[in-house]
Amino acid sequence: MGTGFSKEGLREYAKERRSEYESELQRIVEIPTVSVEPDRKPEVARGAEYAVTLLEKFGAKAELHATKGHPIVYGRFDRNPALPTVTVYNHLDVQPADGPDWRTPPFDFVKKGDRYYGRGTTDDKGPAITALFGARYAWENDVPVNIRFLWELEEEIGSPNFESTIKAKARDFATDSVVVSDTVWVSRSRPAQPAGLRGLQGFRFTLQTGETDQHSGTAGGAARNPVTEMAQLIAECVDGKTGRVKIPGFYADVVAPSRKELEDLQQCGFTVREFKKDHLFKSLRVDDPLEVMKRIWMMPTFEVHGIAGGYQGPGVKTIIPPKATAIVSCRLVPDMDPKKIVRIVTDFVKKKNADVKVSAEHALPAYQGMTTGPYADAIRGAMKFAFGKEPVFVREGGSIGAVLSMEKVFRSPVFFLGLSLPEHGYHAPNENFDWAQAEGGMAAFADYFRRLGEMGGSSGKRSKV
Ligand code: BES
Ligand code: MN
Ligand code: MN
Repeated sequence: MGTGFSKEGLREYAKERRSEYESELQRIVEIPTVSVEPDRKPEVARGAEYAVTLLEKFGAKAELHATKGHPIVYGRFDRNPALPTVTVYNHLDVQPADGPDWRTPPFDFVKKGDRYYGRGTTDDKGPAITALFGARYAWENDVPVNIRFLWELEEEIGSPNFESTIKAKARDFATDSVVVSDTVWVSRSRPAQPAGLRGLQGFRFTLQTGETDQHSGTAGGAARNPVTEMAQLIAECVDGKTGRVKIPGFYADVVAPSRKELEDLQQCGFTVREFKKDHLFKSLRVDDPLEVMKRIWMMPTFEVHGIAGGYQGPGVKTIIPPKATAIVSCRLVPDMDPKKIVRIVTDFVKKKNADVKVSAEHALPAYQGMTTGPYADAIRGAMKFAFGKEPVFVREGGSIGAVLSMEKVFRSPVFFLGLSLPEHGYHAPNENFDWAQAEGGMAAFADYFRRLGEMGGSSGKRSKV
């Protein structure tokens, strides 16, 4: 039992528990829960099992729910059914971590001063464990709320089994509100309160024009070259230099940002210099900050993630390849319909090159959240309490499939209390998290729970705000 909720108490708590935090983060980071790699399935399961024991160790009642894919972990700190219930969402699966640019092994937890390196440290294991530490403080200090944890292990593959799993448990998982910690600040000195997320529609284009490699001297000139055709197709879809999507109708449903949103952007503290530095970019398509922000948060995109086909080895091997693949996705903004995008992209590709096969992958509509009302105010208050600064309103450019599902199934509002920084390197080599964000994050979560407790009744009635 705690000695009373206070800023000072939280500071002490974080200081005393720092090594515990680091060792728990180490344990989970060192389990390579890469959801997209089929060979890692047992590791993902091990991550989920470990998460259950972690919740139990913290005093929660925890369960593992099997799905058709990777499991879901659910934990409860239930005090009293008459009190408001809040559900904290994070994901414990991570992106693959191949490539030569890692300075330390991606699944080793490496601490350098106040920084923690390893795949998943910031996306999203560090924030998940931070929220848990914040919850334990609130719990030990008798904050009058029920706190639930919902940890997904399929977020990075578009949450294919999340909605059906929580739907089957809708009564049991009922909650008055949801808080998601899986978003990024504008910069270390600018906490952000996202008002929405972009959606995503993934695609794979494949083109097969032969059976095997053939000598380009004997067949070249007459043979079709699938890599060349794929390159042409991509260039017909999008202007590589400007990023402008050339598919008719692509922008038809995009809603222009409101005056208020543009004002918020102007004031949010974003700078192109920092953006370039955090993401290690030498140059951008545009240099005007407002234009950059609009492009990363408010406009749809057509992005090529990879083109494969043909010879990649040393020297020049003079073959004509039989096959080419392009992995593509479109970021979507409010009111764009993923189904419609699949239709117009597929029709366009077929018109340009009838032999290209298009398969649609995960489909996530964009999300628009609330920036006013008691919950949004509580998020702002908790951020200010913990970090000394009110968050600025932005939209996020990334996507989290679970968010819309939770809003739909729980019929409760979803808010964001993100802790990651641009410099932490989401999905990048040398991904990291840091103690300042963890320490502040524990205080922010604890204080958010305290505020929900104070709101009490109104949120306890499971009413929509
Ligand atoms: N945490 C991110 C989402 C995110 C990214 C929020 C950037 C804010 C800013 C999440 O883990 C993620 O990477 N989502 C994927 C989903 C996809 C694979 C279906 C994404 O956005 O690409
Ligand atoms: Mn994430
Ligand atoms: Mn991610």
